[in-house]
Amino acid sequence: MTAAPDTAPRAARSLTLRNLHKTYTARGREPFAAVRGIDLAVEPGEMVALLGPSGCGKTTTLRMIAGLETVTSGEVLIGDRAVTDLPPGRRDVGVGFEGYALYPPLSVRENLAYGLRARRARDVGPRVAAIAERLEITDLLDLRPAGLSSGQKQRVALARALVRNPPVLLLDEPLSHLDAGQRQRVRRELKVLQREFGYTTIVVTHDQLEALSLADRMAVMDGGVIRQFGTPDEVFDDPADRFVADFVGEPSINLVGGTVADGGGAVRIGGAGTLPTASRARAGTRVQVGLRPQDCELVGRGSARPALSATVGVFEYLMEFGLATVDLAGQDPPEAGGGGPGRFVVQTPGGASLDPGAPVLIGARPEHVHLFDPGTGERLR
Ligand SMILES: Nc1ncnc2c1ncn2[C@@H]1O[C@H](COP(=O)(O)OP(=O)(O)O)[C@@H](O)[C@H]1O
Ligand SMILES: [Mg+2]
Repeated sequence: MTAAPDTAPRAARSLTLRNLHKTYTARGREPFAAVRGIDLAVEPGEMVALLGPSGCGKTTTLRMIAGLETVTSGEVLIGDRAVTDLPPGRRDVGVGFEGYALYPPLSVRENLAYGLRARRARDVGPRVAAIAERLEITDLLDLRPAGLSSGQKQRVALARALVRNPPVLLLDEPLSHLDAGQRQRVRRELKVLQREFGYTTIVVTHDQLEALSLADRMAVMDGGVIRQFGTPDEVFDDPADRFVADFVGEPSINLVGGTVADGGGAVRIGGAGTLPTASRARAGTRVQVGLRPQDCELVGRGSARPALSATVGVFEYLMEFGLATVDLAGQDPPEAGGGGPGRFVVQTPGGASLDPGAPVLIGARPEHVHLFDPGTGERLR
C-alpha cells in the first residue's frame, strides 16, 4: 500500500452528496428511513454546518460520508471520485466522532502520533506538540484515554482528527462536552486551523450559535431531509419555511395568526393592527405571520406607518440590547407564564428601556414580515 505524502496543506477537495438515503432495517422492526434524499455540494475548503434537532439524521449522514455506515441509495463523491463503496480508510477523510476509538492502551501522545506514523509523515513529534498546544491538551499527552474527562476526550479526539490535516474533515458535535469558556476558545481555534489548512469540513451540531460562528454555509435538517442550505444570513433573513424560521434565531421568531389585507402587501393581525409584507399572497388568505425580535421596530405615536399595538409586559436589559416581551392588543391572552398567540418578543437597541405597562407600536420592514401556510408551514412568497 502506498501512503499519500503527508505535507500540509493539501489541495482541498469538494464533497458532493447525491440523493443520499439511509433506511435502517432490523429484524422484527419496521424499517426506519433516517435519511430521505440528501443533496449537498460543499466547495473545496468550505466549512458547512449540519444543523437540526436531535434525531433528524445528522450523525447518520456524516457516518455515510465517512464510510462507517452503508448507504441505502445515492452517492458520495470526494473531489470527482465516487467513494460510496470504499471502506473508511480509503476515503481520505478525518473523523472526529463522539466515542470514536481512541486506543486505550496508548497514551494521548501515541494516539495522536498513530495516524501520522501510519502515513509515514515527517515531523511527527513537533506536529503532535503543536496541535496539542492549540487544543489545550499539552498536559494530557502522557495520560491514557481512560483517565480523561469527557471534555478532555473530546479535545483529544478533535486533535487526532486535525493532526494529519485531512483534505476532508467530518466532525460530530465536536464541542458538546466542553464548558462554556473552553468551547469558545476551541471553537475559535478550530475555525483558525480550518482556514489555515483549508480542509473541506462538515461539522454536525444542534447548537445554532456553533453553526453560525463556524460555518460558511449551513444546512438545516429536519426529518431526514435538508430544509434549507445557505449562508447564515440567508437562512436567518430568508427562511425557506416555518420550521427553519423557528429553529434558527435566538430568541425565536414571533409567530402569530393573520389575514392578508385587501389589496395585498400588508397583513392584518386581529385587533392589533397591520404590518407591511413583501409577500404577494392573495388578499383574504389566512396565514401565520413570522417576525423576528431583531426585526421589530418601535414606531412613534402619530406615525403613519402600519404597526401593531401592544403593551409591554416585562423588559430585560442585556447590555448591548434589551428584550421586551409585549402583549399584542386584541389577541387571545397568552397562556400563563409561556409564550402565547398574542405575545411578541421585541429586541430594542442598547440604551433604550421600556417600562412594564407602557403602550408601544411595533412596525417592521416589509421584507422582514414572513408569511407561512398555517397548516403546512410552507413559506408564502
Ligand atoms: N443503527 C440504527 N438503527 C436504527 N435506527 C437508528 C440507528 N441509528 C440511528 N437511528 C435512528 O435514526 C434517526 C436519526 O438518527 P441520527 O442520525 O443519530 O440523528 P441525529 O444525529 O440528528 O440526532 C433517529 O430516529 C435514530 O433513532
Ligand atoms: Mg447525532
